[in-house]
Amino acid sequence: MAAALDVEVGIVGAGPAGLMLGWMLARAGISFVIVERQSRAHVEGRIRAGVLEQGAVDLLNACEVGARMQREGLVHDGIELACDAERLRIDFRALTGKSVLIYGQTEITRDLNLAHDSIGSRIHYEAAQVTLAGLTDARAALSCTLAGEALHFRCRFIAGCDGFHGVSRPAIAGLREHERVYPSGWLGVLCDTPPVAPELIYASHERGFALCSMRSPTRSRYYVQVGVDERVDDWSDQRFWDELRARLPRDVAARLVTGPSIEKSIAPLRSFVAEPMQYGRLLLAGDAAHIVPPTGAKGLNLAFADVEALAAALCAALRDDDEAALARYSETCLKRVWKAERFSWWFTAITHRLHDDSFARRLQRAEFDYLASSRAAQTALAENYVGLPRHV
Ligand code: FAD
Ligand code: DHB
Repeated sequence: MAAALDVEVGIVGAGPAGLMLGWMLARAGISFVIVERQSRAHVEGRIRAGVLEQGAVDLLNACEVGARMQREGLVHDGIELACDAERLRIDFRALTGKSVLIYGQTEITRDLNLAHDSIGSRIHYEAAQVTLAGLTDARAALSCTLAGEALHFRCRFIAGCDGFHGVSRPAIAGLREHERVYPSGWLGVLCDTPPVAPELIYASHERGFALCSMRSPTRSRYYVQVGVDERVDDWSDQRFWDELRARLPRDVAARLVTGPSIEKSIAPLRSFVAEPMQYGRLLLAGDAAHIVPPTGAKGLNLAFADVEALAAALCAALRDDDEAALARYSETCLKRVWKAERFSWWFTAITHRLHDDSFARRLQRAEFDYLASSRAAQTALAENYVGLPRHV
């Protein structure tokens, strides 16, 4: 058996949470290793989040990995809601003084990987048979194989940043899991056409939900709600555009510029929280611990909020011998996580077709009318969308 290498923190997963945590530890002079199941190209090419809260933007800037984001990100001061033919703008800036930034997760992972390249970080892509052991011992063990060769790390702490389907969460004894599954998914299409509108449009329609988003002034991202059993292969580009148009207000549909899709995928909708987010030397962060339906654009932002708290707690434990923040890590994160779960569930419920009854649709209509008539209701939506205060 190969000798074990000592690192202070072993990180499982090189998604945004793992890459960001590694980068923050590197800046604090803490030794770490990242093991990732997929290839770097796969991780960088995965089309996912597009909306960053100010807190996430501030974190990337503070860690000096925000330069390209500052240049290329699009500041959005509001979103539009549509309910059948009617539209309502939620003015984030007027209601909260804040805005959000449109900048793709693909770009964030690329920026973080380049930053890691510049300091020669130890990141092992295409790692197989990743296992954790000794989580309640003085040192925990992180092992994997790389091109058939075994690698072993002895770690003061392990950060489970390996997403919903990773190996870290199942390693926690006595975990409580809270879950809501929805009978729907989002079918997403990426396309090199100008966005249909300058801001995002969240559209609630009898036929189901649709979202018009973007990555840049020349690249659009669109979603339609589909049944959870639908297959991407059954959705030609033409079928997708027809369905999207049918769910948008008529004037918006008339302006839609279509083109060949450059990516098309289905993501299931799920609400999920695992408690606690820590066990012995293992600490979970991001999608490994919690999932939200994408409607509120909260997943990546929650992952970064976890990592911010985790990096600070690990620094205190490893540099100042103070484990108080680490002991409180799960409790600190979960308060805010549950508020994001509530918002994402609510925003999904008022915009998606989840029940086939007229009562549910009338309630959605009432939610829209209430929002249209109440600044207080709009403020509640806006302050959740732009991001609640961090860890208070
Ligand atoms: P992940 O990105 O899932 O990364 C986990 C990593 O761990 C992966 O690279 C995986 O390959 C690796 N891994 C898994 N198992 C193992 C193993 N056994 N060993 C080693 N490595 C492993 N969020 C927002 O904030 N705003 C949005 O606008 C938004 N839109 C979204 C739209 C869609 C369609 C989807 C699907 C998601 C969206 N999200 C959004 C959510 C966001 O993408 C996720 O919350 C985010 O990727 C979480 O980051 P993470 O690093 O925790 O997990
Ligand atoms: C995008 C994704 C979301 O979940 C959302 O709420 C808004 C935008 C996007 O991929 O652009």
